[in-house]
Amino acid sequence: MVFGLTGPPADEVFREIRAAQVSSVFRQMPIALAVNTVNAALTAIVLQRLAGVILPFGWLCGVVLVTAGRLVLWLRYRRASPSEKDDPQWPLLATGGSLLAGLCWGLGGPVLFPILPVLGQMFLTIVIGGMCTGAVVTSASHLPTILAFLLSASLPVAILFFCQGTLTGSALGAMVLVFVAALALAAVHFNRFLADTTRLRIELSRANLRLQAEIAERQATEAALRQAQKLEVIGQLTGGIAHDFNNLLTIVNGNLTLAMERIGENSAGVPLLRGALQAAERGGALIHRLLAFARKQRLDPKPVNLSHLVAGIEDLIRRTLGDRIGLAIASDPDLSPARVDANQLELAILNLTINARDAMSGGGSLRIELQNSRTGDRSPPELSPGDYVVVSISDTGTGMDEETLARAFEPFFTTKELGIGSGLGLPMVQGFAAQSGGAVRIRSELGGGTTVELWLPQADEPPLKTPVPSAACSPSR
Ligand SMILES: Nc1ncnc2c1ncn2[C@@H]1O[C@H](COP(=O)(O)OP(=O)(O)OP(=O)(O)O)[C@@H](O)[C@H]1O
Ligand SMILES: [Mg+2]
Repeated sequence: MVFGLTGPPADEVFREIRAAQVSSVFRQMPIALAVNTVNAALTAIVLQRLAGVILPFGWLCGVVLVTAGRLVLWLRYRRASPSEKDDPQWPLLATGGSLLAGLCWGLGGPVLFPILPVLGQMFLTIVIGGMCTGAVVTSASHLPTILAFLLSASLPVAILFFCQGTLTGSALGAMVLVFVAALALAAVHFNRFLADTTRLRIELSRANLRLQAEIAERQATEAALRQAQKLEVIGQLTGGIAHDFNNLLTIVNGNLTLAMERIGENSAGVPLLRGALQAAERGGALIHRLLAFARKQRLDPKPVNLSHLVAGIEDLIRRTLGDRIGLAIASDPDLSPARVDANQLELAILNLTINARDAMSGGGSLRIELQNSRTGDRSPPELSPGDYVVVSISDTGTGMDEETLARAFEPFFTTKELGIGSGLGLPMVQGFAAQSGGAVRIRSELGGGTTVELWLPQADEPPLKTPVPSAACSPSR
């Protein structure tokens, strides 16, 4: 077992043990109160035959009064909330109640002994001994409580015996002391055993919790690994096919263009060829996204000022979002240049804009934020340590449920209608970011909007002075 080595801090365990001990004392309290009352009543009945009614029943009233006070205390503890039960007043009050109860029995001796015959004194001594033994069993979980009862109930009787000045009295006093010492020792052992058991229980339950958390974490890591392997295989397959297909499409495109030139503008076949050419171009765009997802597109990374880049496509973004969605752009004044392919980044931002727009069909707002960031707790774990520029795109749209979020980067996964979404937008953005030496992270909550963070490596050199080229093509839809 490893929990002993990496267990919780000692004072925390100590606090829990103390709380468990106090709660155990209060759990046993009704039994102690019932035994106290019944035994005191029986004792008073027996003693009134030997010492008259007034003193035994006066003493009984004292016992009942203290018992009633402890009952009120027990009721208050029962009604206390878990955090109120942590208050250090409870063990003090329990100990105080126990002390008073013990004193009732202990002072019964000095009150009753002078008027009791020897038989009555013996009877009272035996009853007090029994009460002390019973108290060890019911209150042993909390040492101060049990010691308070033991000493206050027995010491006055022992002193009384010693004060008689006879050999028998001294022997009885000594016997009471030995008996109490034995009980106190048993109480200490019993208490230690209970404390150890409680400590083990607490540590075991914590070890169990840690184990469950580790199992859950391992399962999540395995699932993520399986997903990554699956994507890797799909990426390799797609990349190979897309590459060959791209070559075929280039031939198709070239031949269609040549055919159009040869048959002349007025030929009846021109519309047919133009339709074929458009379809081939759409196929080319699809292949391009597949290559981006498979991280096999040709990139031209250069130092780019992302504030300028976003400003350059702001109009396009506004037109994409429409009238019902507001746009806010915020950029760090000291934003470092990023080393990326500007055209592909524009396409990625437009893709994310379209996703956000689709998630805000009833209107909303989109915020694009640009800032410098270092790898750390907040960064995607797959990033190499270093400095990055983060493009955050946040919308106030529908957000994603857990299943959608888990599958969002899967190629061809879409929740959109057939023909509207191809499920290649996010995989393409992710492929592009990874190929650029960055990463993507999504935070989303159903009904709470979505934030996509694009982490791109900072460039060491300043950005080019020439204006950043704007994405040649408008958004896919
Ligand atoms: N901002 C967003 N808010 C809510 N859900 C989103 C958001 N972005 C993506 N999604 C969910 O993730 C799915 C996958 O997105 P992705 O961009 O890969 O494909 P798509 O938008 O469905 O199709 P495509 O982008 O190829 O046209 C979406 O269908 C949608 O369910
Ligand atoms: Mg999309």
